[in-house]
Amino acid sequence: MDILLASRNPGKLKEFQTLLGGLKLLPWPREAPDIPEDGAFFQDNALQKATFAKAWWLEHGGAPVDGVLADDSGLCVDALWGGPGVLSARFAPGLAPDPKNRLLLSMLGPGQPRTARFVCVLAWAPIMAGSPRTFSGSIEGALAMEPRGAQGFGYDPLFIPQGLQNTFAELSAEVKHQLSHRGRASAAFLRALDGMTGVVMLVLAGTLAFAAQASI
Ligand code: IMP
Repeated sequence: MDILLASRNPGKLKEFQTLLGGLKLLPWPREAPDIPEDGAFFQDNALQKATFAKAWWLEHGGAPVDGVLADDSGLCVDALWGGPGVLSARFAPGLAPDPKNRLLLSMLGPGQPRTARFVCVLAWAPIMAGSPRTFSGSIEGALAMEPRGAQGFGYDPLFIPQGLQNTFAELSAEVKHQLSHRGRASAAFLRALDGMTGVVMLVLAGTLAFAAQASI
């Protein structure tokens, strides 16, 4: 099964290559326009991205694909009224990841709760038939006192999943994928695909191959 991934975010692309390992993923082409996302909710944005990308691909795309997958995700911090939330990618534009993470932490007062969650909504738009569908995943946690760790991307150095001591950026990719918002949404997507095509066997083969490689 061939899937067009409606994202240019290298951190997301890397994660999807593992999470959906048995599927053939095509990245959003360099020459394609930026994908709009101006909704108020993750769900709106994910659907907007998938619908826009599908329409563009049908008009301009090259290789045939079975569908388009879009991800809208972000970090929601309780003390910031759920922000940056859907604006996570646009928070402090122009700042490199580390100063951006430090700026976000500086917005929390000393006595404020540090609870937060990562949220991901995936939208799947099949090319041939059917309406788009969405799959969501989230993970509860808290913000570290300062950025820690070098794995992952984005806000990973800030986020400590509930029940653990380490930030996502201090955990291996395998552990992050088992817990993460994107891992959970991807698992829901794969279960639905399994119902449609039985394709999950392919993915499992890809994931097992990745796990075998990682344990060498
Ligand atoms: P968008 O979905 O394109 O609006 O971008 C989501 C933004 O949220 C990313 O650019 C990251 O800053 C952040 N984000 C989403 N998922 C993760 C994650 O797994 N780790 C760290 N940051 C994330």
